[in-house]
Amino acid sequence: MSALSFCAESHAGCLFRRECIVTVTSVVGLQWGDEAKGKIVDILTDSHQVVVRYQGGNNAGHTVKFDGETYKLSLLPTGILRPGVKAVIGNGLVVNPEALLKEIQSLTDRGVPISGENLMVSDRAHVILPYHIVEDAVYEKRRGEQAIGTTGRGIGTCYRDKALRSHAIRIGDLYHPNSFRTRLADIVVAKNLMLKALDPSVELLDADAIFTSYTRYAELIKPYVVDTTAWLHRALQADANILFEGAQGSLLDVDHGTFPYVTSSNSSSAGIHSGSGVPEREIDRMIGIVKAYTTRVGGGPFPTELNNEIGQHIRDVGHEYGTVTGRPRRCGWLDGVATAYGARICGVDEIAVMLLDVLAQLDEVCICEAYEIRGERTTDFPSHVEDLEVAKPIYRRIPGWKQDITGARKLSDLPFGARAYVDSISELMGLPVKFISIGPDRAQTILL
Ligand code: IMO
Ligand code: MG
Repeated sequence: MSALSFCAESHAGCLFRRECIVTVTSVVGLQWGDEAKGKIVDILTDSHQVVVRYQGGNNAGHTVKFDGETYKLSLLPTGILRPGVKAVIGNGLVVNPEALLKEIQSLTDRGVPISGENLMVSDRAHVILPYHIVEDAVYEKRRGEQAIGTTGRGIGTCYRDKALRSHAIRIGDLYHPNSFRTRLADIVVAKNLMLKALDPSVELLDADAIFTSYTRYAELIKPYVVDTTAWLHRALQADANILFEGAQGSLLDVDHGTFPYVTSSNSSSAGIHSGSGVPEREIDRMIGIVKAYTTRVGGGPFPTELNNEIGQHIRDVGHEYGTVTGRPRRCGWLDGVATAYGARICGVDEIAVMLLDVLAQLDEVCICEAYEIRGERTTDFPSHVEDLEVAKPIYRRIPGWKQDITGARKLSDLPFGARAYVDSISELMGLPVKFISIGPDRAQTILL
């Protein structure tokens, strides 16, 4: 591997701009995902040479508008769109190699160059195999009304096998064909027994066919596969500016989120260390992404949900339909209790308020500042899903602003109501707002 060298002269003389000082930055969603993290990651990519994903898989969906083009990324880090930026898929991800190859192909077809020079995939990442996807569907079907509403990508079942170990295959294992073949045969026997018992209608899996297709995928992804942990440590020593790109959001974190209605990884900043091998203390700047309202895809409690015309209005104006599955997102008011909890879990320094433009034209806008749970007022976020299910939001009401704000470029361009709303978010979260997004374009961003 060639010696690593980063920055130096490009940062000289601009110590007043935080972006220009050598930094390790993290961007993390503070809600239930889809906070428009991709836009802030894209803006920050200009001042970072490495962008790292540390958890999740192709359940994520990041939309980036770049040079008049719209790109929808799922597994690839957003940095892949920038020439000269290295995109890293860390050890904490679960990788479906077929999906990875399709995503690479769709970007290269559009002229985005992808090679071992700008994409690295950890040999420690776990592999999603066809049975994980079948199992995901079977478990969801069995849960019936209680379904988690997964993306159906085999994410949770792959993480389960990682924890189980005996049924786990890592990317590095694909390059040891003899042991891979033997282990796969053994795993598939066990999977078929379980699947048949759980759902007799399921088509059984063929270990030989899986082996053949996965050894082919292994050859195709080989140029990208490295020990990304060792590579990141060298990048840190070379003073690279590294950006960690969170997928999903803190409230979907398997430990800290609304369990069991969560994803199966540490989607708060808790996942950075385990999912990349970069110690927490290396992170200089933790940016929490907050959508100006709340959305959720899939099941689980959602105290501020609006099952009314305001919710539908937000869905329509905000185009709140899933990037990965196309499902309509559930919409509601901003939940200050949940979001402040997400920020505490992540150790956020500053926040970005996204999609503020969507709330224009409403008579009033509301932020939940506390819950009432069984007659008691609290600003603590409940640890048990059944307590959150009965939480009644107590709202702070702010007069709406009946005017389009998509053309605003500085704080003073915003109408009084919009500014009061942003101030309330900052006050409730106890954090400074550093970015306000008022449209999908890069230019539609107010920097504070
Ligand atoms: P981005 O990165 C929103 C949700 C699913 C489901 C739960 C578990 O675009 O913010 P999984 O397939 O992960 O086992 O599903 O998590 N979920 C997301 N919701 N945005 C995402 O990613 C999500 N990724 C998973 O809807 O409720
Ligand atoms: Mg998304």
